[in-house]
Amino acid sequence: MPLHDRHSGQPRRPARHLVEDAVFADDDLRRRAPRDHFPTREMRAAEAHQLVSDELILDGNSRQNLATFCQTWEEPQVHLLMEQCIDKNLIDKDEYPQTAELERRCVHMLADLWNVPDEANMIGTSAIGSSEACMLAGMAAKWRWRARREAEGRPTDRPNMVCGPVQVVWHKFAKYWDVEIREIPMTHGTWCMTPEAMLEQVDENTIFVMPTFGVTYTGAYEPVKELSDALDDLQERTGLDVDLHVDGASGAFLAPFCAPELVWDFRLPRVKSISASGHKFGLAPLGVGWVVWRDASELPDDLVFHVSYLGGDMPVFQINFSRPAGQIVAQYYEFIRLGHEGYRRVHDASYEAGAHLASQLPGLGPFELLCTSDPTTGIPTVTWRIADGEDPGYTLYDLADRLRTRGWQVPAYPLTGGASDISVQRVLVRQDVSRDMIDLLLGDLHQAIAHFDKHPVTVSMTEEEAGGFSHL
Ligand SMILES: Cc1ncc(COP(=O)(O)O)c(C=O)c1O
Repeated sequence: MPLHDRHSGQPRRPARHLVEDAVFADDDLRRRAPRDHFPTREMRAAEAHQLVSDELILDGNSRQNLATFCQTWEEPQVHLLMEQCIDKNLIDKDEYPQTAELERRCVHMLADLWNVPDEANMIGTSAIGSSEACMLAGMAAKWRWRARREAEGRPTDRPNMVCGPVQVVWHKFAKYWDVEIREIPMTHGTWCMTPEAMLEQVDENTIFVMPTFGVTYTGAYEPVKELSDALDDLQERTGLDVDLHVDGASGAFLAPFCAPELVWDFRLPRVKSISASGHKFGLAPLGVGWVVWRDASELPDDLVFHVSYLGGDMPVFQINFSRPAGQIVAQYYEFIRLGHEGYRRVHDASYEAGAHLASQLPGLGPFELLCTSDPTTGIPTVTWRIADGEDPGYTLYDLADRLRTRGWQVPAYPLTGGASDISVQRVLVRQDVSRDMIDLLLGDLHQAIAHFDKHPVTVSMTEEEAGGFSHL
């Protein structure tokens, strides 16, 4: 059958230009993709989509990314809600009042989950992730401390914060807001901030002590209650009253369900604020964090701005302005879809799968476990090192590199402070890392180690060569 050029009257073009289904035969896909210069002309949507999605193949498979704390799987209903909200800007409270209402409900539910003493007086907000939430909590603490000092006629030029090994957000906070960070260094065998080490750092310029509830390096919980008790004792002895902010990026969505007996939240009067990532164990898709203050008085008024809302006024505290609304809507969906029972079942399954990995690892090599996926001591994470004094003939960087051949991303990285000579490997067990996937990973770990026995490593991989790790 002859092919006709529908551009009648124009010079006839080769027929292949008109065969719209043959995406890969299209001229646009037969050329080098635009890279550094803004393209001159348009491309058809199908070809542009094909090109971009093919580039994404090289990203690897996020389900096998065992380094990330963030969600890599969502229920189909979450995809639907995200699609429904693609056109909504969270800041437009007046235009999308019901989305604002869902955000309000989430904050209240979290305040309840984290045991605020007086729900009528708490205050909180969503953020784009824990990093923004941490910044907001840190600013509020600095402003409170400064106001107190000014009222006492004391200098306000040397604020500090005291913490254990922290995620990079706290280094950013300290730099951007001019606060000295007193990060108690990790040492061999002491992976967290202890009350004794904390007390050595705290003084009248401390805006807060900041325990991490799920240390990024290892997954272990810092002892919030013990730290709080030590600060109570300090206050009794010296009169110095120091606030706590809990960075519960992961743990604040785990302990309330899987270790309710742990006291780390607003049940401790010293805990003035808690931040968490909705997109980690809050199970929402990427792009949501939360921060709640136990009492509105903990959030100084002059940090709050006002946007219009149904002809009225809505106070907001945030660094961004425009933001996607879908994640908030999806977060509300998760809360009502799962409830307390559902979250516990989902997270218990992760802890169990992680505990299975932890139980098998010592049988595979001379590994010492730093975190064993135990709900009472940390998040569903397994972290291991090569035991002191052992040399199996490969490093964890070699192992990470070998696992990559099967698609697994289980990076190795050094610890920090006085323990930076120790390298560890870490697996984050999220809801979509099932027991079966852990068994597949164990099989591949076994194969990788058998490979090294057969083909001994002569020159080990460096951290950079093995892929590095930039989540810390
Ligand atoms: C303890 C801790 N705080 C803060 C963050 C930053 O969180 P987000 O990625 O949600 O900004 C992380 C990320 O891993 C973390 O582990």
